[in-house]
Amino acid sequence: MHPTKRRWAFVILVMTWLLAMPAIAQHGLETVPQELAEAFASMQTKVSSDPEALEQVIAAGRERAIFCNTCHGQDGSATRVNYPSLAGQNPVYLLDQIEQFADGSRKKLVMNVLAETFSVEEKVTLALYYSAMPLEPTEADLDLARHGAPVYQLRCAACHGPAGRGEEGYARIAGQQPGYVATVLREYKSGQSPRRFSVMYGIASALSESDIDAVAHYIASMR
Ligand code: HEC
Ligand code: HEC
Repeated sequence: MHPTKRRWAFVILVMTWLLAMPAIAQHGLETVPQELAEAFASMQTKVSSDPEALEQVIAAGRERAIFCNTCHGQDGSATRVNYPSLAGQNPVYLLDQIEQFADGSRKKLVMNVLAETFSVEEKVTLALYYSAMPLEPTEADLDLARHGAPVYQLRCAACHGPAGRGEEGYARIAGQQPGYVATVLREYKSGQSPRRFSVMYGIASALSESDIDAVAHYIASMR
């Protein structure tokens, strides 16, 4: 395809995805401060109907994210197993997590220090930019993944979706770095997670150590 055509095909794809979001966007938005939720909703509506606004948000996000690349990878596709990818993530989930780092309800020193300095506009821009980026596939151990598939379909699919893409309003986990997923699950399982209380505590406590590695590699293998 001609590069310009390809770019437009991509823009239309992203717009269709964003247009599909508002109905489910409410899930998670209720926990962020009203001013931030309103700024997000209005920018999301704008970029869903205006390709130029979308391109501006992507350009501004990419510029703001230069420093984030060190850990989260180019355009949010992480290349190190212990760092989360942000590309293709549900934008409401991203916004919610950025806000949790900013107000300290999710603890990770580097993220707390960074997020404290973000303006409302930067939070909105970063969430929309990363969600619009395509996620590059990551490597997974396919033997482990085979064992993880039934665990996932039984215990995780109801919320994260059969394909793990976050359309249901929950975090996208498909294609996430396996080391990161396993760490997050072990933190929840131990009851000592640096994250706020959620259903994940109970879910992870029911997983065996071998289930955790298997399901993490199955998730990493999902596209
Ligand atoms: C020095 C490394 C580092 C840098 C730089 C960094 N991050 Fe992070 N970030 C992390 C780590 C590590 C985590 C996972 C925290 C955890 O284990 O709970 C994280 C988590 C996140 C999450 C939550 C992801 C999820 O799936 O829940 C978001 C969103 C995020 N970072 C955004 C950013 C943005 C935006 C920037 C740039 C302004 C940035 N980060 C810069 C290390 C970094
Ligand atoms: C009842 C709904 C529900 C089920 C079932 C569920 N989750 Fe979750 N999951 C959530 C919610 C809600 C969050 C966000 C937690 C937060 O905001 O701190 C989450 C977050 C996560 C995260 C963190 C994502 C990130 O980017 O940091 C991972 C990893 C995860 N879940 C994996 C799983 C796995 C694996 C299973 C199955 C064993 C599972 N979940 C089952 C609701 C669910």
